[in-house]
Amino acid sequence: MSDTQPTRVVIDQSTQEPLLPLRAPAETAPAGARIPKRILVLGATSGIAEACCRLWAERGDSLFLVARSPDKLAAVAADMTTRGASFVGSVVANLDDTAAHPELLAHAVNSLAGLDIAFLPLGILGDQALAERSFPHAEEILHTNFVAPVSLLTWLATYCAQRHAGTLAVVSSVAGDRGRKSNYVYGSSKAGLTAFVAGLRNRIDREGVRVITIKPGPVKTAMTEGMKGREKMADVEAVAAAIVKAIDAGQDTLYVPGIWRIIMAVIRAIPESLFKKLDL
Ligand SMILES: NC(=O)c1ccc[n+]([C@@H]2O[C@H](COP(=O)([O-])OP(=O)(O)OC[C@H]3O[C@@H](n4cnc5c(N)ncnc54)[C@H](OP(=O)(O)O)[C@@H]3O)[C@@H](O)[C@H]2O)c1
Repeated sequence: MSDTQPTRVVIDQSTQEPLLPLRAPAETAPAGARIPKRILVLGATSGIAEACCRLWAERGDSLFLVARSPDKLAAVAADMTTRGASFVGSVVANLDDTAAHPELLAHAVNSLAGLDIAFLPLGILGDQALAERSFPHAEEILHTNFVAPVSLLTWLATYCAQRHAGTLAVVSSVAGDRGRKSNYVYGSSKAGLTAFVAGLRNRIDREGVRVITIKPGPVKTAMTEGMKGREKMADVEAVAAAIVKAIDAGQDTLYVPGIWRIIMAVIRAIPESLFKKLDL
């Protein structure tokens, strides 16, 4: 056991940035034992997040779960405790409220006594047909899928870069690789997120912070409930296993299932003169 006590992060009241603690957080595992990872999950009631949390809980990691639905969050938190997580903290929060992010994130990292992984699965599909005629709905999709993650990542990147440690794992989508008529509002929110995350990686990888872009193809979760061809979509448990493995490996980009790397390379290569005539 280390004799170092965990130090609390505090927020600079003028900028809302995290301030460096004077001493490093404690490692509490006995010598030789695996040190549980301290994992913050932003959007913890997501189908993909829940499946990842099950894997993390079963290997004894510490989890801090944030979600907007109190009932769903309580159920996920109880399940993770039962499965063996070494610590489960939680907070109910609507992550669209960017002004609340600094205080929320400081509370989360203080509860975990540090941070190894921040996982950002929050997102909404929205209604493409509605977003085509209603800017407020398009803005809602862009806010939840792009603006809110940018706010969270800005604070988290500062926190991790100050400590030269940590992994930021962000769920984008293959839909961000090329705009298509069937979902270009959602797709553009993910394209923005993918570009932001790539730039962030380019900036802070050299500081010792891993930044991972996760691009799922269609997955069987609440988001795709009732969609055509759902039986052919990826199984959420397999997707979660690939995500957990990629985070452990510090991979830069994960297409999951892997076939989507090839599919999207083909889709990106189609000349615009032909692409604009396709019904995709
Ligand atoms: N499923 C797919 O086919 C697919 C494909 C590519 C990418 N993705 C991406 O994968 C991620 C996870 O999606 P999923 O498939 O697991 O779908 P999901 O089960 O619908 O998860 C989305 C989660 O985001 C949460 N969320 C949305 N807005 C929020 C807000 N303002 N504050 C807090 N939480 C909020 C939702 O909370 P509630 O539970 O309260 O609604 C839900 O838990 C998303 O970013 C999605 O875009 C999914």
